[in-house]
Amino acid sequence: MTPQASQASAAAGLVLSVKDLSVSYGAVAALQDLSLEVAQGELVSLLGVNGAGKSTTLKAIAGVLKPTHGAITFQGQPIGGKTAEAVHKLGISLVPEGRQIFPMLTVAENLRIGAFGSYKAGSFAEDLEDMFQLFPILKQRYRQAGGLLSGGEQQMLAIARGLMARPKLLMLDEPSLGLSPTLVDQIFDLILSLKQRGITILLVEQNAERALQLADRAYLLSTGRVRFAGRPAEMSTQVDIAAVYLGEHGAVGAAVPDGAPAASASSATPGNPAASAGGAA
Ligand SMILES: Nc1ncnc2c1ncn2[C@@H]1O[C@H](COP(=O)(O)OP(=O)(O)O)[C@@H](O)[C@H]1O
Ligand SMILES: [Mg+2]
Repeated sequence: MTPQASQASAAAGLVLSVKDLSVSYGAVAALQDLSLEVAQGELVSLLGVNGAGKSTTLKAIAGVLKPTHGAITFQGQPIGGKTAEAVHKLGISLVPEGRQIFPMLTVAENLRIGAFGSYKAGSFAEDLEDMFQLFPILKQRYRQAGGLLSGGEQQMLAIARGLMARPKLLMLDEPSLGLSPTLVDQIFDLILSLKQRGITILLVEQNAERALQLADRAYLLSTGRVRFAGRPAEMSTQVDIAAVYLGEHGAVGAAVPDGAPAASASSATPGNPAASAGGAA
């Protein structure tokens, strides 16, 4: 990210700041000293191959996993030790990988659960109308069991459920995974319309090309570390993306100029160690 770009995001106000986050599954270190930021109204894409640590990052932010180290700050408030319920109440919605809607409950009940316990539920009826505008199919399926919906419809239900909480930060984990090309287009159109509404989004996607088209900024993870942080246009010039996706991690370190991503991280968060973004690669 250029200095101007990092100043722009700082000026707009940070919604989320993750600093030196480490998460382990038993003896397996899934994330190591990961730092990232999301500013108000930004769409930030989190990219990387299977097993890079993307879902772990979202789960740690959502309070589903407990970090072993590091700080997570949401709207200036530390949330690192909070439960998933408490984090949701503060305004973070996670739409998890694999949708995870309730198959035995109706579409209506799934949506009601999304609104439950949120920081600002608003009027349920009003929010429901809004969801029907965004996802007309859900209106048709309103009384049906979630499990009877197609994969694409379940993904829309999962996103609608996340939106029912009127989140201040929406985190989407692989929303296009397993969908047909037409549905993938629909999902990306939808994400664009959410961005245009001003919703702050942290998007995990295996479809890097599409995710980069929408993103204001992107982070590329491999083996639990940030290998690149910056504008999508800078990514292809600074990182051998094909090499990353083929798993040749060494090529990434060589392709990232010294201090390039670190400069943005340190200017946006004073005192952030340069090693957390570029130096570690
Ligand atoms: N429940 C788990 N138990 C043990 N290891 C896990 C578990 N979930 C993920 N991992 C490991 O943590 C690393 C990061 O996984 P994950 O965050 O799911 O990656 P991604 O979402 O980028 O595919 C991988 O090495 C993965 O095998
Ligand atoms: Mg994942």
